[in-house]
Amino acid sequence: MGSNLHRRPDHPICIIKEAIYEYFDSLEAAAGTSQFKKFDDLPCVVPATSNFDAVLVPADHVSRSPNDTYYVDDATVLRCHTSAHQLDTLRAGEKAFLVTGDVYRRDSIDASHYPVFHQMEGVRVFEPAEFSSSGSSGSGSGDDAVAAGTAHAERELKRVLEGLARHLFGSEAETRWVDAFFPFTEPSFELEVLFRGEWLEVLGCGVMQREILRNAGADAAAERDGGGPRAAWAFGLGLERLAMVLFGIPDIRLFWSGDRRFLSQFRAGDLGARFKPFSKYPPCFKDVSFWQPRAGGEAGASAPRASSAPGGGPVSENDLCEKVRGVAGDLVESVSLIDAFTHPKTGRDSACYRIAYRSMERSLSDEEVNAMQETVRGLLATELGVELR
Ligand code: DAH
Repeated sequence: MGSNLHRRPDHPICIIKEAIYEYFDSLEAAAGTSQFKKFDDLPCVVPATSNFDAVLVPADHVSRSPNDTYYVDDATVLRCHTSAHQLDTLRAGEKAFLVTGDVYRRDSIDASHYPVFHQMEGVRVFEPAEFSSSGSSGSGSGDDAVAAGTAHAERELKRVLEGLARHLFGSEAETRWVDAFFPFTEPSFELEVLFRGEWLEVLGCGVMQREILRNAGADAAAERDGGGPRAAWAFGLGLERLAMVLFGIPDIRLFWSGDRRFLSQFRAGDLGARFKPFSKYPPCFKDVSFWQPRAGGEAGASAPRASSAPGGGPVSENDLCEKVRGVAGDLVESVSLIDAFTHPKTGRDSACYRIAYRSMERSLSDEEVNAMQETVRGLLATELGVELR
């Protein structure tokens, strides 16, 4: 926390942020649309209600589980998406804004997953006058007005975000829209871009649920003024993903490297850099096999548990990865389940995970890797309750 990669001008994450800012500023210059206000220092510790309830995430949604989200306490989390700021920012009266920040998720470990990454959220609210004059339905508060607002927001959303894709990927970039689902938007879409022969998902977006606008008080104000309901679009995108694709950065850990050989390759304002690997150090693979803890004494445990508590059934992969990360830090490259079976006689579950250790900056010694592996094994036994094999 507090590293602020997205606010360091020569850092690739910040370069992508600025490139997106530049696009939204150019929109304003061209069409006189309202200025997008930028927020990039809102605190990452937020009430769980802001992270989930405010954007209509259902009470039983998996993302609320302590297996997926870092809870500071029962009512407070490290935001898992920048959508956590939608409602408060709307309530503050903002109608066009971009929120950039570090977001946190418990997850597995590989080249594109890290417990902290960066997102940008964009929101644009339309006054009834902005869509009712162009449409046939006129203003008013009925279903027609809502439909006109939704249609306008969807049209604008697609136009603006296709433009963003061309700004980032080149004016020739081919894009396509894929239907999606998010609790906070209806309809919802993902934007994909054809890049070097592959369709890449770039962002999620949609027409903001009216309930959010209503909760923000925006609708009430508009209707009081006699204009009918407002409409809005929203999007969210991951900055690491864009930076990895655009700059050719192969491993997400590199963003956190202080190595000059990495950092010196990027310059503020330059979207054209291609990452040149400075050296490839060999990975070192270590396997750890264990019997899973039994669930409450029963054989054949069911679903993975929500958080660490020895003796409650199979360990969750996120818990295991967090233990490994806690020992190896950025020296762990990936953790993968390579074998799992249930013993035919005892009914006990066995798992074998392969851990790849590799530094991005230097060669690791055998002693160093063996020491980390031993520590990991110890923690899995003492803190996750597995029986090492
Ligand atoms: N919050 C979503 C995520 O983290 C991304 C997202 C999707 C944001 C659609 C939005 C949206 O504002 O409309 O995956």
